[in-house]
Amino acid sequence: MCGIVGAIAQRPVADILLEGLRRLEYRGYDSAGLAVLSEQGELKRLRCLGKVAALANSLAGSSLPGTLGIAHTRWATHGEPSERNAHPHICRERCALVHNGIIENHESLRAQQQAAGHRFTSQTDTEVVVHAIHDALERGLDLTDAVRACVKQLHGAYALGVIDRQDPEHLVAARLGSPLVIGIGFQEHFIASDVPALLPVTNRFIFLEDGDLAELTRSSVRIWNASGQEVERPVRTSSMSVDATERGPYRHFMQKEIFEQPRAIAETLEGRLGADHVLAAAFGTQAEALFAQTRSVTIIACGTSFHAGLVAKHWIESLAGIHCQVEVASEYRYRQHVVPEQSLFVSISQSGETADTLAALQMAKQSGYLATLAICNVAESSLVRESELQLLTRAGPEIGVASTKAFTTQLAALLLLALALGHQRRLSPEREAHAVEILRTLPAQIERALSIDEAVADLAQHFVEKHHTLFLGRGEQHAIAMEGALKLKEISYIHAEAYPAGELKHGPLALIDEDMPVVAVAPNNALLEKLKSNLEEVRARGGQLYVFADDSVAWQQAEGVHVLRLPESDDLIDPLVFSIPMQLLAYHVAALKGTDVDQPRNLAKSVTVE
Ligand code: AGP
Repeated sequence: MCGIVGAIAQRPVADILLEGLRRLEYRGYDSAGLAVLSEQGELKRLRCLGKVAALANSLAGSSLPGTLGIAHTRWATHGEPSERNAHPHICRERCALVHNGIIENHESLRAQQQAAGHRFTSQTDTEVVVHAIHDALERGLDLTDAVRACVKQLHGAYALGVIDRQDPEHLVAARLGSPLVIGIGFQEHFIASDVPALLPVTNRFIFLEDGDLAELTRSSVRIWNASGQEVERPVRTSSMSVDATERGPYRHFMQKEIFEQPRAIAETLEGRLGADHVLAAAFGTQAEALFAQTRSVTIIACGTSFHAGLVAKHWIESLAGIHCQVEVASEYRYRQHVVPEQSLFVSISQSGETADTLAALQMAKQSGYLATLAICNVAESSLVRESELQLLTRAGPEIGVASTKAFTTQLAALLLLALALGHQRRLSPEREAHAVEILRTLPAQIERALSIDEAVADLAQHFVEKHHTLFLGRGEQHAIAMEGALKLKEISYIHAEAYPAGELKHGPLALIDEDMPVVAVAPNNALLEKLKSNLEEVRARGGQLYVFADDSVAWQQAEGVHVLRLPESDDLIDPLVFSIPMQLLAYHVAALKGTDVDQPRNLAKSVTVE
């Protein structure tokens, strides 16, 4: 999704802006640009289609010495990816603006502005905002008041950074529905969509809230809330290191993040396990009382986070014995739903800024749920701030668009939730203590699963030339098969589908031939024999089988059957363990194909628009 950086400083800001954009690349984008107010009082703008590196190259040939500027990476929503649609947008050489979000009433504003004589140079929804601010400035308002007047006319979502050629002392920012942080420096201030963008210049941040308007000078920051009152927002010190967003010796961020999972999971469990039970207080001070009243659970999420929710349904129903339903946020938010009595609403999100998930949470807050709980990887995110209970997943920054460590840490957090709910319900103390013991072994078990890496890299050769792949699993492993299929299509662009293996004969079996590899997730559990029968149906039709199996089970050698073994693990944590070969397979296939693994085409890391 779009990324914003802005700076008002004592020193030239072009390099700070460029470095900020580089650090926001993980969000996904198709064009980039920046505008700086020169010492001669002119707005100098550079924009290009494609990567930030291309913008840096064109900057190398020009001199942009200004100390006030804004920059942007654009992920196209309205209008094709192109230089003319890239931000910043400028109106009549007076003011420049960067925007993340969607202006829903842009068509009516555009019609009014065209009638008033404005000439549009882009196809974007954003351009109406810069014209509106320009008109307010021309009416004599200062920049802060002009932005304030403008946002009153906007419907939709926005994070904005604005500068005015006639006012070298101010950078104005505003947010509603799209994230924006302020970086606090010494006699300099910054704005950005995300903390990592500013880590080279500061570790002190203010997280703007929805409806906030901020006025930055070199020496001060003033903030007004949605009702127009001036407010003080806390300054937080980030413990994230600049290196946390470096690739190190790995070829891709995704590869680095796959191998970070033992540590990420260990940190997610840290301090949350008692001697023989999960500490409910880890979810918030009210959690224990609320969990005791919980009679059902509704989980809402998107993409990979939704798959984590599907696994959690199995855990919550089997360990806690309470009904659990899971739904994608984009559907949930637009249908009439019945809220069961005493129901806990759980939203899962890596970023905590996914527009559909946030909208579902807003809806849930009006719908009579017992409480709202966020499982999230970003402490300062909107989702965490707006939920009553929280459990942070401590995966650290995830840069690769394809989620890996964020997913397995979500699973670890959801297993904690299922056990905490079970503690209040039907879970016996023995079973609970055993589960806690198994959880403690999880980081080491994931480390062992990663030793399959080379074997998966060899196997990946079999997939590179294929156009389709089918993933099969049963029970909670169906969700892992879904995640495997999502990973493969996301980064290798190979079409992949997942089915519960028992559904094969109800349709997808018709697809099986030697060109359709079939990947099976096959831990040694109660459904293994059923799964084996389903796989026989594939083999009998000449399908090529790739089975990820538990070391404890014997598989007969047979033509067309490739078995890769994982170290034996307990059923309870199998969904996490079997996620590893799914991630590695997608990664190695994509790396062999030479796709842009970390920033796959058309996708964004943080989906802040609907
Ligand atoms: C995962 O690989 C995807 N990039 C995507 O499905 C992602 O999980 C989804 O957009 C939800 O994001 P969130 O967890 O930040 O809410």
